[in-house]
Amino acid sequence: MAGVGHNRSPAGPPEIYLNGRFLPPDEGKISVMDRGFLFGDGVYEVIPCYAGRLFRLEHHLQRLDNSLHGIRMPNPLDRAQWQAILERLIAQLPGADQSIYLQITRGSSGRREHAIPSGIEPTVFAMTQPAVYPDATTLATGIKAITLDDTRWKHCDIKAITLLANVLLRSEAKDRGAAEAILIRDGFAIEGAASNLFIVQAGQIITPPKSDHLLPGITRDLVLELAQQHQLPCRESPISRQMLDRADEVWVTSSSKEVTAVVELDGHPVGNGRPGPIYGRMARFYSDYKALLQTGRLASGMT
Ligand code: PDD
Repeated sequence: MAGVGHNRSPAGPPEIYLNGRFLPPDEGKISVMDRGFLFGDGVYEVIPCYAGRLFRLEHHLQRLDNSLHGIRMPNPLDRAQWQAILERLIAQLPGADQSIYLQITRGSSGRREHAIPSGIEPTVFAMTQPAVYPDATTLATGIKAITLDDTRWKHCDIKAITLLANVLLRSEAKDRGAAEAILIRDGFAIEGAASNLFIVQAGQIITPPKSDHLLPGITRDLVLELAQQHQLPCRESPISRQMLDRADEVWVTSSSKEVTAVVELDGHPVGNGRPGPIYGRMARFYSDYKALLQTGRLASGMT
């Protein structure tokens, strides 16, 4: 599987993994007939890596399996094979914080046809990039968000590469001076364009339950675990538009944003317009958890 690659040149970008080989990024080529290119027919994962250690690898690989199952594809690699590939990628940037992107598409049958062809080889791609997890200013001051109608499809639990709605929604937020769009479906706040949603109401942390309307975020699960571990009241429950508008605190979570406070929603301050006290506690628990991983006190990948 992992194939024989050559070592990354010290000056060049990290090598990528493509279909069994490690290559310089410019040498990675796929067919224009690839169904990922023609139909967005594929799934992906984004996995943080702190100080050279993979964050919750087991959880990410389980979600990858679930996404593949959702699009009727077997996983072309087993867990050990994935771990070996990812470890080799991150070893190119020793000890660095990184973001791993991996993508599996259905591959090419040599022609464009909507229905899933049989007997084709998937395209398997993974890369790592140095990452800055979110900068201290963002954590201290929070972000602005706007609400938008959720225009996505009905299988948002699948981490599909077909992200056009998310791209348009996030871009609209950006054009309006906001860092994230909170998506509203049938009167309920669901999640962000690329993040999960939490609110705090009367001291209780609330996040929508998992369903096919939202991506089951790995960061979301950790935040719930940390809340339980530290006896912060929390519950999974639908968040109506009204609850969102009246929330004392609003947070978004993702592999790249970690836990970030929303301090302004649709031009109005959330709470007093600064990250709230419960956010402050959760941000500390989260950074303590990261420190455990970074210093090797949590087993890499399996936590
Ligand atoms: N996106 N919801 C959506 C729609 C997302 O795209 C993401 C993450 C999340 C949070 O999931 P996690 O905590 O596992 O990162 C929720 C990634 C970061 C992306 O597309 O780049």
